[in-house]
Amino acid sequence: PTAHIGVTGLAVMGSNLARNFARHGHTVAVHNRTTARTKALIDEHGHEGNFVPAETPEEFVASLIKPRRLIIMVKAGDPTDAVIDEFAPLLDEGDMIVDGGNAHFHDTLRREKALRERGIHFVGTGISGGEEGALNGPSIMPGGSAESYKALGPLLESIAAKAPDGSPCCTHIGPDAAGHFVKMVHNGIEYADMQLIAEAYHLLRAVAGYEPGRIAETFRSWNTGRLDSYLIGITAEVLAHTDAATGRPFVDVVADAAEQKGTGRWTVQTALDLGVPVSGIAEAVFARSLSGHTDLREAAAGLPGPAAGGLSPEAAEEFADRVEAALYASKVVSYAQGWNMMAAASSEYGWNLDLGAMAAIWRGGCIIRAAFLDRIRGAYRADPALPSLLADRRFADELGRAQDAWRAVVTTAAGHGVPTPGFAAALAYYDSLRAERLPAALTQAQRDFFGAHTYRRVDAGGSYHTRWSGDRGEERTG
Ligand code: 6PG
Repeated sequence: PTAHIGVTGLAVMGSNLARNFARHGHTVAVHNRTTARTKALIDEHGHEGNFVPAETPEEFVASLIKPRRLIIMVKAGDPTDAVIDEFAPLLDEGDMIVDGGNAHFHDTLRREKALRERGIHFVGTGISGGEEGALNGPSIMPGGSAESYKALGPLLESIAAKAPDGSPCCTHIGPDAAGHFVKMVHNGIEYADMQLIAEAYHLLRAVAGYEPGRIAETFRSWNTGRLDSYLIGITAEVLAHTDAATGRPFVDVVADAAEQKGTGRWTVQTALDLGVPVSGIAEAVFARSLSGHTDLREAAAGLPGPAAGGLSPEAAEEFADRVEAALYASKVVSYAQGWNMMAAASSEYGWNLDLGAMAAIWRGGCIIRAAFLDRIRGAYRADPALPSLLADRRFADELGRAQDAWRAVVTTAAGHGVPTPGFAAALAYYDSLRAERLPAALTQAQRDFFGAHTYRRVDAGGSYHTRWSGDRGEERTG
């Protein structure tokens, strides 16, 4: 055997990952269920490095140096189980199966346990950066045993993106499903980021009266400041693009129903189970879902809204600055929510996550890469037990400075009938957390009234019930 690593599943992500390994001097075994794909990869890219094409699983496994390192790049779900069932019987104790798909972390927990019992390391690994990242350097989030990382880490780090300071965007995230969990949260944050950018675009268009080309310019200028990020950059490119067939702005010829493959939805479902409020991410998922409900949208199409009316050019410019502040502040909130979720899962599953490390490896390669992540890294460096990003002094100061603009944008949006679920939810989260008293007291009283669910008092320990349907006297219940 001569191959340092093997990749099975040679659709675009798998092929690009294999090429990335080969280009970094590793000998890569490649396999695909239908051999035509393997052949195509070798024909087109065989000259890029050392590939060992294999036609059968047996041939593939036999070509790998022990302990074997085998990466599965197939569609998440049943296909992953099918490939594991096919390869696991061919492996020996100490070998490693890396799942590089967007698997649900519950599946990864199950697979890791089953394979561990057979002496095989199962390494659920988040890989972000799309096709281009897989080829030129993705951000890599491997879970699984620390032992497996000793054998895999150097290989993965060699093909990972490099952060601006030169460090690889890959680290051992934590045991079993930690890598896939963290990738899921990355995608939840990705959804929130995209929704917030979409809202900013909508406001600049509908309220400021800017054309897409002008909005592209605005985004480009934002991209030189604190919002500097991959997503803002590609947004500017999309907005500057003209449809060849019609000559119209490209964004105007795309159907306005957003789709999803499910990782954002999983983030919210999981957050509900963990009891972590991720309202920004949830609004992003719901916004995609709502956009696709043609039936509901058609039924509501005639409902009245405010009279149309744009801003004067000077007012528009001022408004655009405010939108930048609102976008930034809302972004901080959704990242704070995502980080809270990782902290909660870390204690729930005993992962002992290094929360600053996630910010470090998301600085390059991944979809949410941004200058801003360096600051999150700094915040967790200063205090590894930081309860919330909003508790970091620098972020708190920035939100404080942004709040007037943020409120003005949400108010103006409502006045103009432009939906901003992301901005509004983020602001509500900020105001809820900083509130001295929340109306949750009333909720508790209502629950006690109709269901004797009891409440706690501000001035004494224990729990209490008021005899609402009787003499309204209070009794201590626990
Ligand atoms: C990445 C992306 C990638 C993909 C997601 C989201 O990190 O490279 O997150 O995994 O874009 O699957 O896709 P949907 O928008 O279709 O859910």
